[in-house]
Amino acid sequence: MSLVIAIDGPAASGKGTLARRLAAHYGLPHLDTGLLYRAVACALLDEGLQLDDAEAAVAAARGLSLTDFDETRLRARDMGEAASVVAAMPPVRAALIDMQRSFAARPEGAALDGRDIGTVVCPGASVKIFVTASPETRATRRALELAGRGEEADYAAILEDVKKRDARDSGRSAAPLKAAEDAVTLDTTDLDIEEAFAAALKIVEARRG
Ligand code: DC
Repeated sequence: MSLVIAIDGPAASGKGTLARRLAAHYGLPHLDTGLLYRAVACALLDEGLQLDDAEAAVAAARGLSLTDFDETRLRARDMGEAASVVAAMPPVRAALIDMQRSFAARPEGAALDGRDIGTVVCPGASVKIFVTASPETRATRRALELAGRGEEADYAAILEDVKKRDARDSGRSAAPLKAAEDAVTLDTTDLDIEEAFAAALKIVEARRG
């Protein structure tokens, strides 16, 4: 069976970096599913529509092509917040599920990261990792990342953002952020990226048998 790695976790937990590194290590295609929700939000904002316009959001999700969007813009702080709002609408999630499942079903295997990969998108994934870190650590990392890109990086505002997003992503009724029962939790609060990657590799190797 091909290797499918499902990585979930809250905003700025390091799940994206770990998914990218694991994908490169095993030669797997990688899908950052947060970008899909960010792109739907971006499409609505570009058309001057409200983020809770479910009909327009579903239409945007159905016709979605990530190559139509500037990734830097999708990764901006305000787009993460906007994505979290559109992601709470069940029909938007439903409109994006086939695309994610087809990606995961590629014969060569895949690595996907998001909030509901292990629980909803790929419940049968070979390996599931739930990446966490304290809100303070995540806010510090996000501030450094934004500053590195020349964006405004106010720590207090980012910490508030992280906590607000945690509450919305975990509290929604449709596919809330939570660890799958068979996921291994990896707390990266006290780990640097190399240590976190080494720990993630160990988890994958142990699960692969
Ligand atoms: O991973 P991210 O920060 O790029 O995700 C942005 C938002 O998209 C996140 O706050 C919630 C939503 N999301 C989701 O609901 N399910 C996913 N699989 C990925 C992201």
